[in-house]
Amino acid sequence: MRKKIIAANWKMYKTCTETESFIAEFKNLAGNYEEKEVVICPPFTSLFVVQNLLKDTPFKLGAQNMFWEKEGAYTGEISPVMLKDLNCEYVIIGHSERRQYFCETNENINKKIKTAFNWGLTPIFCVGEKWEEREKGKTEDIIREQVTKGLEGLPMENVEKIVIAYEPVWAIGTGHSAKGEDANEVAKLIRDIISTLYNSDIANKVRIQYGGSVNPQNIVEFLSQSEIDGALVGGASLKPQSFWEIVKS
Ligand code: 13P
Repeated sequence: MRKKIIAANWKMYKTCTETESFIAEFKNLAGNYEEKEVVICPPFTSLFVVQNLLKDTPFKLGAQNMFWEKEGAYTGEISPVMLKDLNCEYVIIGHSERRQYFCETNENINKKIKTAFNWGLTPIFCVGEKWEEREKGKTEDIIREQVTKGLEGLPMENVEKIVIAYEPVWAIGTGHSAKGEDANEVAKLIRDIISTLYNSDIANKVRIQYGGSVNPQNIVEFLSQSEIDGALVGGASLKPQSFWEIVKS
């Protein structure tokens, strides 16, 4: 059984003060909820605050990005060692906004995924097609390329632990989510690709999330799909009440 995993991707939202009040309110609502795994991915500046406030809870901490070197002259970057030191367990890698605005390539993403595992962090590896790619019938090719290149050279024991977030770019922040069954079809495709690259045992262990305009009203449509094991939530994770409604659904 794959344990469902709901992750909040706050993107570039929330100061430390706003973070503190979110976590206080969320803890009030969620108590010691453990039925699904819950991961909060705040901006780097709030990681320290969140790790302190989550100490006695079942909720996990994740970062939104990471560089692949341990340390060095890389102004503005954050290393895996720094994330481990803050008790981060997860790190989002290859989000479409990073691919789009920060020139991340499948090759860079592959390096980051390998680095994350080397330092004991679990990547939430994002893949997804753009609208024009979907319209041209290229979804399968794009996903295959992203998954294959992202996982290149990764040993089996790592792959089975990875979380993959299928986030169609056109559904992110638009209010137009994918249909449950369409997302399920892509999640199935991802599992088939992993099955071919590795084996079906490994493929069946990988957790696959859906992301893109998830909200308390549509979450059940995704969680009830056979191949979808959770959600990566942007906008609707910024308010404790709506994030909690998604988590407990
Ligand atoms: P929204 O939920 O705001 O569409 O964002 C999805 C996302 O990009 C999560 O990583």
